[in-house]
Amino acid sequence: MKKADVIIVGSGLAALQTARELNPELNVMIITKGTRRGSNSYMAQGGIAAVVAKDDNIARHFEDTLEAGRGHQIEEEVHSLVTEGQRIVQKLVDEGAPFDRNNDGTLSLGMEGAHSRKRILHCGGDETGRFLIEHFLKTLSGNISWVEEEMVFELLQNSEGACIGVKTMNRQGAVHAYYAPIVVMAAGGAGGLYSSTSNHPTVTGDGMAAAFRAGAYIADAEFIQFHPTLLYVDGKTKGLVSEAVRGEGAHLFNDAGERIMEGIHPLKELAPRHVVAQRIFEQRQMGRDIYLSIKLINEFETKFPSISAMCKENGIDLSLGRIPVSPGCHFIMGGIVIDSAGKTNVEGLYAVGEAACSGVHGANRLASNSLLEGLVYGKRLADWINAQKKSISINPKKMQDAEQQKSGRKAAAPFNVKEFQERMMESAGIIRNGQKLEEHLNWLQNIEFRLDEKLDELNPEDIGKYFMWINSLIVTRAALLRTESRGGHIRSDYQEEDDFFWMKRRIVHSLEDGEMRTWLDEQVKTKIYA
Ligand code: SIN
Repeated sequence: MKKADVIIVGSGLAALQTARELNPELNVMIITKGTRRGSNSYMAQGGIAAVVAKDDNIARHFEDTLEAGRGHQIEEEVHSLVTEGQRIVQKLVDEGAPFDRNNDGTLSLGMEGAHSRKRILHCGGDETGRFLIEHFLKTLSGNISWVEEEMVFELLQNSEGACIGVKTMNRQGAVHAYYAPIVVMAAGGAGGLYSSTSNHPTVTGDGMAAAFRAGAYIADAEFIQFHPTLLYVDGKTKGLVSEAVRGEGAHLFNDAGERIMEGIHPLKELAPRHVVAQRIFEQRQMGRDIYLSIKLINEFETKFPSISAMCKENGIDLSLGRIPVSPGCHFIMGGIVIDSAGKTNVEGLYAVGEAACSGVHGANRLASNSLLEGLVYGKRLADWINAQKKSISINPKKMQDAEQQKSGRKAAAPFNVKEFQERMMESAGIIRNGQKLEEHLNWLQNIEFRLDEKLDELNPEDIGKYFMWINSLIVTRAALLRTESRGGHIRSDYQEEDDFFWMKRRIVHSLEDGEMRTWLDEQVKTKIYA
């Protein structure tokens, strides 16, 4: 029997931060469906937002975060994010994490959308994720073992519903069980639900779907961030063109030569992401092509080596000074509801990073606050687990319960992934409306899956599709229910923010007796853990 004290699902920065902050006496297992270098974090370009500059302060970072999230956050969580984040980032600087520096040795700080100050620490120009993950991998201690290329498709639960481990499947369909009294879901977001995305192709919300099936509460799923600028070639998005490019002075123009952010928002190209993405989307709907002008950026290729390489690979001539762009799904603000320590409502199950809904991002995440969230909540959860270590033990009787689960084979999933992603883009994408959402929900509901499907004998591809279906149901239901526009949730039939009814009111989903229950709760955390 394979067992550990702590199982961490996922290999991004939140997962690695949790792992490295855990007591080295604990036996920690990291399970990832890709490889240790195959996460969204590894692909991160922009960086980590933190207050390190002399002209900056905590109050500004706090306010910028609230403004981008349109006030939908839990303010105490935002405050602790920026204060603890400042300390944790300083510790990383002190231990020699490879942040870029200016010629005088000071930290080189970038600018991104909706920040009132330069506060983005970055590495290798636009290769922050790669450099940081490599740094973290080097600093992990010997108590950590890896299981790669196995997808966690089910959480093992005992007869009282507590999570006591995970079931995985590899690409060949072999199923394994791993046991631990503490399971941390750090499996990332769900960008792969959409046809245009900046995310790693493996990121389709498995963690959220598996946790939902185990009874975890999912909230704020309607808030999806579309990044304004993905490289756009031959009718397809190809990868992220970091907001740091606009932070360095690039501007957006259309094929008629017009600056498209003029008169739209005082911050123009550096307006919050939902504003810029909506503007580009509307222009594209009118048949316009959109470009980023990089003519004003000196030494573009030195500052942005990976973006330059991606452009060249896709036949873009950078000497022309323009990059064709279009928006794509980048981040989900919602996820598995956690308290301040990272606990979910399911005993034994914890969550960190993009998979979790900690309440810090609200309706739209501030640029470069996601790696920060992973660092802060990863550390906090590890501290909490370290303090519990005496009570960590697995009850063999309970493991027995889990192993007795049986399943039946089911036919192949009845839809094509590409068509599915295009439907999500069309109906639950950048701009939504009630009619399309309703039609899409009906389409989803007519797909022959059940929420309590037995999964053991499905093939891995069909399990992936099944999780996409669950997550899309949750996103679409929530988007239909929220009759206002706020942050990353934009409704053409409800264009205003409705503070009176919707401010801080969360849409929460859970699975009960095989049915999805959806309810409104402004205080979901305090209700769960009071
Ligand atoms: C970017 O580099 O534009 C993305 C950074 C982020 O999502 O925070």
